Amino acid sequence: MTLVLRSVAELRAWRRGLPAGRSLGFVPTMGALHRGHMSLVELSKSRCDLTIASIFVNPLQFGPNEDLARYPRPIETDLALLGAAGVDALFLPDVEDLYRPGASTYVVEESVSGPLCGAVRPGHFRGVATVVLKLFNLVQPHVAFFGQKDAQQCAVIERMVRDLDVPVEIVRGPIVREADGLALSSRNVYLAPEERAAAPKIYASLKAAEAAYEAGERDAQALVAAGLAVLAEEPLIRVQYWEVRDPASLDELERVGEGGALLAVAAHLGATRLIDNIVIG
Ligand code: PAJ
Repeated sequence: MTLVLRSVAELRAWRRGLPAGRSLGFVPTMGALHRGHMSLVELSKSRCDLTIASIFVNPLQFGPNEDLARYPRPIETDLALLGAAGVDALFLPDVEDLYRPGASTYVVEESVSGPLCGAVRPGHFRGVATVVLKLFNLVQPHVAFFGQKDAQQCAVIERMVRDLDVPVEIVRGPIVREADGLALSSRNVYLAPEERAAAPKIYASLKAAEAAYEAGERDAQALVAAGLAVLAEEPLIRVQYWEVRDPASLDELERVGEGGALLAVAAHLGATRLIDNIVIG
């Protein structure tokens, strides 16, 4: 049975009671858990003595026209999954518990959060960085686990931890996919059947560019063209961005060199926005 900590006070009391010598792993989530989230839980359990997860649909990282109100919240199923996985504790705070009235302090990363999702979701990474630093301060984990699915989120958090001397190790877990290549996402449940059928094309577009790279192509625009050609076949997919960037700095690349490249895509299927990426080289 997973111990459910429903408030900051309960979490702090639990944290104070932990024996000093035992390592604590942390998996922050917004719930609607799937195998992607659970792979991070498994990673934490393999690396740490104790594992705590959090479920908090963070209003601060949603834009005014985004899906905060309809974000899925299947808490009973989530609890069953965490229990079966042997998670030691779940932090499940209310919005009012985490954001006090008049809260006016934020974490703003000003470099890696600029392009890609940062350019099309203003304020998103400010919301992510702020809530993740708050969660780190409360949970005080030794290691925290994030999915490569959200590569830019990983980059923002790694930069924040480095720049602000946060005493936590960040570990990235690989992207978990459906058999047809679609990256698992809590938002996949929004997809209508015909959109779900089209969605694997997003990954196929990344694989097409990777194949071009493996055939010797190094020009970023040519790789983008190879990816976009696959998506052009699918009228249900509207591409928001498809870019070739440095995996660490997220700077735009003209050519793929020694450091390899992050190929990152965001696309809409109907009202649903999906992201995916791969690293080449
Ligand atoms: P959420 O979207 O619930 O994701 C929680 C964690 O699961 C993130 O680190 C994300 O990258 C990872 N994840 C999601 N899908 C995955 C997949 N298919 N394979 C591997 N990992 C996957 O990301 C957030 O929540 C929030 O922004 C949060 C960090 C909790 C801050 O609010």
